[in-house]
Amino acid sequence: MRLQLFIASIALLAVIGTASAGQNWAVLVAGSNGWYNYRHQSDVCHAYQILHKNGIPDSNIIVMMYDDLAKNKQNPTPGIIINHPNGQDVYKGVPHDYTGNTVTPKNFINVLLGKKDAMKGVGSGKVLESGPDDNVFIYFTDHGATGLVAFPNGVLYAKDLNSTIAQMHSENKYKEMVIYIEACESGSMLEGLLPDNINIYATTASNAEESSYACYYDSKRQTYLGDLYSVNWMEDSDAEDISKESLFKQFQVTKQKTTESHVMQYGDLTLGAKHTVSEFQGATRNGKQQSVSPVVDRMNTLLKRETTATVDVRISILSKRLADLPANSEERLSIKRELAYTVRQRSIISSTIDSIAKKSFEVNRSGYSDLVTSQRMKLTQHDCYKEATQRIHAKCFDIQNEFVLNKLWIVANLCEVGLHSFTINNAVDAVCDVLGRQQFEY
Ligand SMILES: *[C@@H]1O[C@H](CO)[C@@H](O)[C@H](O)[C@H]1NC(C)=O
Ligand SMILES: *[C@@H]1O[C@H](CO)[C@@H](O)[C@H](O)[C@H]1NC(C)=O
Repeated sequence: MRLQLFIASIALLAVIGTASAGQNWAVLVAGSNGWYNYRHQSDVCHAYQILHKNGIPDSNIIVMMYDDLAKNKQNPTPGIIINHPNGQDVYKGVPHDYTGNTVTPKNFINVLLGKKDAMKGVGSGKVLESGPDDNVFIYFTDHGATGLVAFPNGVLYAKDLNSTIAQMHSENKYKEMVIYIEACESGSMLEGLLPDNINIYATTASNAEESSYACYYDSKRQTYLGDLYSVNWMEDSDAEDISKESLFKQFQVTKQKTTESHVMQYGDLTLGAKHTVSEFQGATRNGKQQSVSPVVDRMNTLLKRETTATVDVRISILSKRLADLPANSEERLSIKRELAYTVRQRSIISSTIDSIAKKSFEVNRSGYSDLVTSQRMKLTQHDCYKEATQRIHAKCFDIQNEFVLNKLWIVANLCEVGLHSFTINNAVDAVCDVLGRQQFEY
């Protein structure tokens, strides 16, 4: 009898032991600001609600978002953010770990590497404190370009993300990790970089060469509420029993519903079949089934999603606002002016990048190859690309502008055809020293 009790308590201890052995951690990042970029922060708020309802404590969820929407003067519903047409508020309860100017690539890297000291006095100071038994979920949503994603301040290069991940692996900061990225050309953040033997499974909104797509235009708020890939995985998490659904199944559902771009998988694909979504998006590893919360909307497949390529979002919003206004109204004139300014901005940026391409060949004294402006090459010359794009940022214009991001593949091509970064930098100086650094309002 005593022995049985003893064995029973050992067994119980073993169960508790395994249950508490692993925790869930998550880092959620929206890399933009401004009302017309509403959708990125609303995606991140929604993602938080999913993890929260699934039982991951706030202490283990780190949120980086600019936080200029709830109180924005353009917000017709102050204090409320939605991610779905007529959806419920997703802003309530979202931790304000890093907001405003603290949403930077450097802080993101410090958070991932668990650098508590470096983050002391910055925002909440929360960092990943995960260990070898813990699962980590990272979700990033914003604008992107070949080999980089944008932050409100600065950009994160694929090579730097890659080395951060490698360091997390060598420092045993996770058991398994799942990374979801929504951005244009998001495949280029991982393609040819993320190895298949470091226990990471990732999906991206698009391949390395194409746009990602905004969706759910809301005429009351005059902005897009979500991004297609993001709302697809999140509405799947809302609707499914994620303690039974595999990561691969979620990928398939998301891929099928993301009709405008190619949703991709990277890393160790065997993890996708082996693990459930809740092992990363919920604290269900101890067997507790979480209830579905009414906070988040269920999937509505009949809803018209009104997708728009990221680069066209600003022009699309202005055009829709214009169409809603009575002829000859004062506001109509001002929006017409803004639209003309935006279209001009786009064409100035485009022709500046083309001039840099031409000039680079002149500096090199080699014949211009129009391959660099007509055909995308795979990015392998990461250092050259970083130097050249940083020079453009310093000398020409803000590279976080999505019209610039949309053309950076040409700069990647210049590096790929063998031009050295100092050749390209000379061309950047020659073109932009004449024009001066241009400040566009956007
Ligand atoms: C990316 O990281 C892996 C280790 O995870 C490393 O083997 C590889 O060389 C890195 N790639 C680049 C371009 O730095
Ligand atoms: C000049 O162009 C050639 C051919 O594209 C390339 O191989 C070479 O490295 C370039 N030189 C410099 C200094 O950029």
